[in-house]
Amino acid sequence: MKKILITGGAGFIGSHVVRRFVNRYPNYQIFNLDALTYAGNLENIKDIQDKPNYTFVKGDIVDESFINDLFSKHNFDGILHLAAESHVDRSIEDPLAFVKTNVVGTMNLLNVAKNQWKGNFEGKRFHHISTDEVYGSLGTEGLFTEDTPYDPNSPYSASKASSDHFVRAYGETYDLPYILTNCSNNYGPYHFPEKLIPLFINNIINNNPLPLYGDGNYTRDWLFVEDHAVAIDLVFHKGKNHETYNIGGFNEWKNIELVKLLCNLMDQKLGRIEGTSQELITYVKDRPGHDLRYAIDASKINKELGWKPSVTFEEGLEKTINWYLNNQEWLKNVTSGSYKDYYQKQYS
Ligand code: NAD
Ligand code: DAU
Repeated sequence: MKKILITGGAGFIGSHVVRRFVNRYPNYQIFNLDALTYAGNLENIKDIQDKPNYTFVKGDIVDESFINDLFSKHNFDGILHLAAESHVDRSIEDPLAFVKTNVVGTMNLLNVAKNQWKGNFEGKRFHHISTDEVYGSLGTEGLFTEDTPYDPNSPYSASKASSDHFVRAYGETYDLPYILTNCSNNYGPYHFPEKLIPLFINNIINNNPLPLYGDGNYTRDWLFVEDHAVAIDLVFHKGKNHETYNIGGFNEWKNIELVKLLCNLMDQKLGRIEGTSQELITYVKDRPGHDLRYAIDASKINKELGWKPSVTFEEGLEKTINWYLNNQEWLKNVTSGSYKDYYQKQYS
């Protein structure tokens, strides 16, 4: 039986990846390692907690001796590394937290994998999950390809770029069998309501202002989270070692257009008169260093592995809105306590 370690599996994307692997690969023993920070939540994966091929381990990837002990107990065959500090605005407030988890934490995992697998890389794989933000910002034209030079602008993207470089360096220097994926903006169920789409859904439900940064003309490429999980599964199993695959939704939206669409869909779902939620849109001070536009060229993963998004944006948004409306208890739980302090500080 293969032993697979997934880090960050109580977070947004990680929970979808863990669920997919546990349900799809009963012959794998899946270990979910997560520190349960503000962004990690066992509620996100409670449907799989009793599966025989699943083990949850609470622990911090920054803790070197803990990681060493875990690896000396289990000879993992594969690692899917998703644990990270993931929110750009928080990285502007506290960059060091991002260096610790995203850089030092990744280094700890690379070191134990290198030491444990040394000399026997057969069937082993270190899959590092990263972001398109490492490429910096596009102007109004062009797409990020796997060959676009790194040019990160925020402390978050600088920390992810640094971890990507270390992963590649361990491949070149020690032959570590790594694979890298860089993905665009995800959305879907279990998304923490600090990010644009779930934050605005929550605020629309509660009739609170929708704080749009700057002029609202920033552009992102959106992908339904389950399509990202499918792509990760495919790359982990079929991708080539020492390669990068870009993953994107072929789905660019200016923030203001996306928010108007979201408002209209929410008005329909909540039985409100069309236009009601749009009145909540409030232009606020811009994010410092705000990247204008991200857009992924996902033709490599499409041509080599046959992946493409399966869910249209309209379908994905509808599934997402329905999930939040049906899971308002989840929303209430994650927005109580320290979330209130974060919100006050960020938006007051
Ligand atoms: P998230 O913030 O929702 O979840 C991160 C998870 O990591 C949480 O469960 C948290 O408890 C855990 N974690 C944080 N620090 C840890 C530590 N020191 N030790 C162990 N666990 C720790 O993040 P997400 O949005 O699901 O992103 C997952 C990964 O995908 C990240 O590496 C992120 O950079 C990348 N990514 C995210 C997106 C996106 O749109 N959300 C897009 C592309 C890539
Ligand atoms: O591109 C992939 C990245 O997408 C991931 O690596 C990150 O982990 C993920 O957080 C996301 O980063 P963004 O900064 O693009 O996502 P966010 O949801 O924070 O913001 C999306 C856009 O909406 C961005 O242009 C900023 C804007 N925004 C965001 C918030 C939270 C607002 O206008 N108002 C807000 O309150």
